[in-house]
Amino acid sequence: MNPPDYEYLRKLLKDHSGLDLSADKQYLIESRLLPLARKAGLPGIPELVQKMKGGANVLVGQVVEAMTTNETFFFRDKVPFEHFRDTIMPELLKARANRKSIRIWCAAGSTGQEPYSLAMCLKEMGAALAGWRVEILATDLSQEVLEKSKAGIYSQFEVQRGLPIQMLVKYFKQIGELWQINPELRAMVQHRTLNLLHDFSQLGSFDVIFCRNVLIYFDQETKTNIFGRLARIVEPDGFLVLGAAETVVGLTEQFKPVADRRGLYRPGDTRAAQARPAIALAVAPKLAVAGG
Ligand SMILES: C[S@@+](CC[C@H](N)C(=O)[O-])C[C@H]1O[C@@H](n2cnc3c(N)ncnc32)[C@H](O)[C@@H]1O
Repeated sequence: MNPPDYEYLRKLLKDHSGLDLSADKQYLIESRLLPLARKAGLPGIPELVQKMKGGANVLVGQVVEAMTTNETFFFRDKVPFEHFRDTIMPELLKARANRKSIRIWCAAGSTGQEPYSLAMCLKEMGAALAGWRVEILATDLSQEVLEKSKAGIYSQFEVQRGLPIQMLVKYFKQIGELWQINPELRAMVQHRTLNLLHDFSQLGSFDVIFCRNVLIYFDQETKTNIFGRLARIVEPDGFLVLGAAETVVGLTEQFKPVADRRGLYRPGDTRAAQARPAIALAVAPKLAVAGG
């Protein structure tokens, strides 16, 4: 690939998705974009770049999606879900005892394994959530992964990654060689396309934000900017969960690590001092978690 085309694509990806590619990732671009170019009837990447420069916005969207890494699996890294079950939910059950509602945001939910893992954790809590309303909002930049998440249909390989067999039996139905998560769990997760580079204040406030394995692709300035905006919509006594290779340390003072809870963060002092009521999300109805 010629250097000007590479630079054009690097800038385009940085501007549209935050993806910060180093100077030596030509192979990655070629392996992901050559099939896309061929599908569009173009001989190669130079022609793809030419088309985009000529204003082919549909292609821009396809290029951005093709370059996202959608890797995910059920109960990925385990520990965050243990924090959710053992630290986050017990604390919120006390703190929200009056209003009996909790809002959770999976900020890069990919094909759904993460939000559905949270939905299964909630279902496992049974009677403790009777009468509570718990929303899970799953968003992602990629429309394609969200469609898969909405359908909740997974291959044998996908359900074998991280999902305990008892949960597979309990919460999924086999359809030929595939498995679909049951309608009750599907109804617990709302879906919405959302680019983290754009304003997300309209989502309202959240008690828990899972933002895992996406910031890792961004540069420091973008991460700091996103942390600042996440801090404004997390409840002052809420939680932020990051991926195993991600941290706030050195990037923002707006979140502080929770001692002995790897990957778990809470708003820093300034935010925590401001108690403010939750704002309801206009587009997503609150969902009743079947309690008990
Ligand atoms: C590696 S997956 C992580 C999925 C899940 N959070 C997990 O940890 O298993 C990263 C996801 O981030 C999404 N993504 C990438 N850039 C994004 C952006 N600017 N805004 C929102 N989502 C983005 C990708 O489409 C992809 O589905």
